[in-house]
Amino acid sequence: MSDYAIELLAGHDRSTFVSDAPSLDRYFQQQVTQDVRRRIAACFVAVATTDAKVAGFYTLSATSLILDQLSPERARKLPRYPVVPAILLGRLAIDVSHQGRGLGGALVVDALLRAARSEVVGHVMVVDALDEAAALFYQHLGFERLADDPYRLIRAI
Ligand SMILES: CC(C)(COP(=O)(O)OP(=O)(O)OC[C@H]1O[C@@H](n2cnc3c(N)ncnc32)[C@H](O)[C@@H]1OP(=O)(O)O)[C@@H](O)C(=O)NCCC(=O)NCCS
Repeated sequence: MSDYAIELLAGHDRSTFVSDAPSLDRYFQQQVTQDVRRRIAACFVAVATTDAKVAGFYTLSATSLILDQLSPERARKLPRYPVVPAILLGRLAIDVSHQGRGLGGALVVDALLRAARSEVVGHVMVVDALDEAAALFYQHLGFERLADDPYRLIRAI
């Protein structure tokens, strides 16, 4: 992934970013800086080294799961606290001109590594898939679906 630098969103130009998901494009162009300012989410961008344009982005936030949402096998290994701390990979999108080159997968790995390095811990990473294709993408990367919400998936950090 030496073709990209992954960094915190700062003054990057967000206006040209186009993924397959208009709702995520709108979020990135109109909403994300407010979420960052209000400490609702941290946003990381992949910047292409060729043209310095944003090729992808993702957001991270603290979240929690109800213990009963986890599979019995996973829950059995945890203390019986009612909620389980987790890290939410809230939004992820890759510009259409950069899709299919491994960048989406690389950003998920980057998010997992950041979560693993953080001093504020989460037991699992949680993702909310936009649609079935996105859920299959996350499953391909080792995430498992929650029984009560198949578009919400988790993976050990
Ligand atoms: C889904 C998305 C993030 C994938 O990004 P990408 O850069 O094209 O994906 P990658 O090239 O990194 O793919 C990584 C791996 O996932 C696989 N993959 C990609 N899309 C897949 C899908 N829909 N189902 C199953 N596997 C998928 C790839 O084949 C690749 O496998 P490999 O590592 O074994 O070769 C991108 O298509 C996108 O931004 N879509 C619109 C927004 C969206 O759906 N976001 C998801 C979160 S809601």
